[in-house]
Amino acid sequence: MIIIFATQKGGTGKTTLAIAFANYLSGISERKLNVFDFDFQKSFYHKWREDEVLDIPKLYEVEIIGDNDTQAFPDLETIIELRDNEDINLFDLAGTLDVKYSDLLIYSNFIIIPFEYSDVSVKSTLVFVNVLGQIESQADRIFIRSKYDKSFKYLNQEGMDAELDRYGKLLKSPVFKRNCLQTIDTRKLTYEQKYAIRNPFNEIICYINETLDTTI
Ligand SMILES: Nc1ncnc2c1ncn2[C@@H]1O[C@H](COP(=O)(O)OP(=O)(O)OP(=O)(O)O)[C@@H](O)[C@H]1O
Ligand SMILES: [Mg+2]
Repeated sequence: MIIIFATQKGGTGKTTLAIAFANYLSGISERKLNVFDFDFQKSFYHKWREDEVLDIPKLYEVEIIGDNDTQAFPDLETIIELRDNEDINLFDLAGTLDVKYSDLLIYSNFIIIPFEYSDVSVKSTLVFVNVLGQIESQADRIFIRSKYDKSFKYLNQEGMDAELDRYGKLLKSPVFKRNCLQTIDTRKLTYEQKYAIRNPFNEIICYINETLDTTI
């Protein structure tokens, strides 16, 4: 199966959540987990390499794709094969839309879209959803409130939630803004980090299991 962390807004927490999700899954899933860093910044991959000094065994391999001008996938069959096999193939994408992502966005199983309540983020989230519609993406969309701050009241939160609900699954639990997530590494989750992500991630896993009638 293919699970992607993507949106067209930079800095919303895609990479942080992708690392946390990969770490969390590797602790609870029997399936093989493969991570693909499809962002020119290669933040996930660099962190994973940096973490080699930690003296903690690695939880998964991370592969860079789409680097230079070489095509990320030789053909469509490669993507379909990643989608249809039993492994969990997790992709971290850049915060910019690019035509090189189209096939992956079209044929993946799930796109996890982190968003924040701000005028800018709201707009880009809706633009991104619109693009997914235009390219006729078959993927299920999962919206996750990222860096959520309980004390901040976004005036149009209800309107935004209703809008997103029409386009996919809006998770009930947010990922709160937490300092402990700013120091995440690719080898473990601390108790605090697990506590910060456990509710929304369990919702994601339940949703995936229900949708595909499987257990990941
Ligand atoms: N829940 C959170 N609480 C506090 N800080 C967070 C949280 N999530 C992400 N951050 C911080 O926000 C910044 C941006 O996060 P991250 O790099 O994960 O976003 P991104 O969407 O992958 O960005 P890009 O579009 O550049 O790839 C980082 O400094 C990260 O540590
Ligand atoms: Mg990133």
